[in-house]
Amino acid sequence: MTDAPKYRSYSQFEEFLHNFYSLSQTARIHSDTHTLVIEGIEKFSESINSCMDNDSLTFKISNDQLYVDDEKLAYNRTTKNLFDNIIRFFDTRSLEGVRLLEAVTQASAREILAFMRLLDISGQQPEPLAWLKDSLAAENIAWVELVKKTERPQDEESYKSKAERRERARKDYTYTKASIEEVAQKIKEGKGEVGVRKTVRVVQDLVTNLIEDDEVYSAISTLRVFDDYTYTHSVNVGMLSMCIGRRINLSRRNLVNLGMCALFHDLGKIEIPYEVLHKKDKLNESELQMIEEHSLNSSRLMLKLKASPDSKARILVPMFEHHLKYDLSGYPHADWKRPLTLFGKIISIADQYDTLTSSRAYRKSVLSPDRALGYMFDRAGRDYDPILIKVFINIMGVYPVGTLMRLDTDELALVVSSPSREFSKRPLVCVLEKGSDDSYKKKEIINLDERDPETGNYVREIIETYHPSDLGIQPVQHIFSA
Ligand SMILES: [Fe+2]
Ligand SMILES: [Fe+2]
Repeated sequence: MTDAPKYRSYSQFEEFLHNFYSLSQTARIHSDTHTLVIEGIEKFSESINSCMDNDSLTFKISNDQLYVDDEKLAYNRTTKNLFDNIIRFFDTRSLEGVRLLEAVTQASAREILAFMRLLDISGQQPEPLAWLKDSLAAENIAWVELVKKTERPQDEESYKSKAERRERARKDYTYTKASIEEVAQKIKEGKGEVGVRKTVRVVQDLVTNLIEDDEVYSAISTLRVFDDYTYTHSVNVGMLSMCIGRRINLSRRNLVNLGMCALFHDLGKIEIPYEVLHKKDKLNESELQMIEEHSLNSSRLMLKLKASPDSKARILVPMFEHHLKYDLSGYPHADWKRPLTLFGKIISIADQYDTLTSSRAYRKSVLSPDRALGYMFDRAGRDYDPILIKVFINIMGVYPVGTLMRLDTDELALVVSSPSREFSKRPLVCVLEKGSDDSYKKKEIINLDERDPETGNYVREIIETYHPSDLGIQPVQHIFSA
């Protein structure tokens, strides 16, 4: 390589990452001889040549940021999706990064493609990194060094650094709840045509914040307080739906529409008497009918609200659909065979998750967040869209924030952050200790990913999970407090 340092711009680095990720995706779908694959290899090789300085080119993730040769790349509107995709791609493969050695500039197209394919397939292996190393050696590809994750994905410090974003999310939660409460109240009082402009504004702000950091919003349903169900449920469903929408790259405008639709999905319940909604015993036929009509009534009430015909058109049908299942069973009983809308499918997932994990006085069973996800995953393809369920589990983590667990060290711990790695089973938890007054106090934050340096075994294992309400614990006191 040249002796003098080469000038390399950010846009060259971005192009390199773009070419890397595009090739990984193209190679996944197309055969070796497909034009897109051949062009993809050429572009990737060219961008390696233009970016490589001295004797190697390293791209890696550190604290959820992408670096090329120690240059931190800026997250912005254009790069965000690409960077998120690459971070997820590496996370799934237990990789912190990849170092390409100078010999890559002499590598054949066949070798580059073999590397990309192995890298891709490694994501499906139980031990991706070990598998990838062996496979690269078997193919005699010696110009790649894999950078293993050395740092913990999240430690106590980075958890604390999120305090500000958590506080902002908390405010968003309060404003959103207040604005939908206000709309519902005005409808109840029969105050003519009720406007939703304020709620739209709140949702627009929410979308801006959510685009920047969706993790904190996926954990937000833990803000729920036991006895405050009616509107917290709507806010939870709204935020969870928007998190799903965000992950499937819905446009900003669609995210706002989805948010509005999800926030008001149960609006029709305001017409159901309190005693029926909260009845502990079995409902009689007319009560059941009343309940089953609420989704239709949500759409009917929304029709009366003061909003643009365009937004109304987009949100009426999904509201009506939110209790229909993927196979069109559920209610209201539908005779048509038209598949559910995307919004309808998203809201039904968020709605069901929040319902299953909500502890309410009149409900007998409540599932811990991880069990609720398991329950829903078992019904994927029948009750729920199978792809959206995977997206949802990916967002929430195997043990979502708010899951309470007993560890093999006999410690009681509450999940406070679920890593962004797909289907991660080792979240960040906060150990809880029972005080003299029988209430639980927050102790240290620990990472269940931690291994004993001598034995290589994990320091702690999960024995059992519970719903926080089983032990009278309000997660909000431990999670959203600094
Ligand atoms: Fe509902
Ligand atoms: Fe609901």
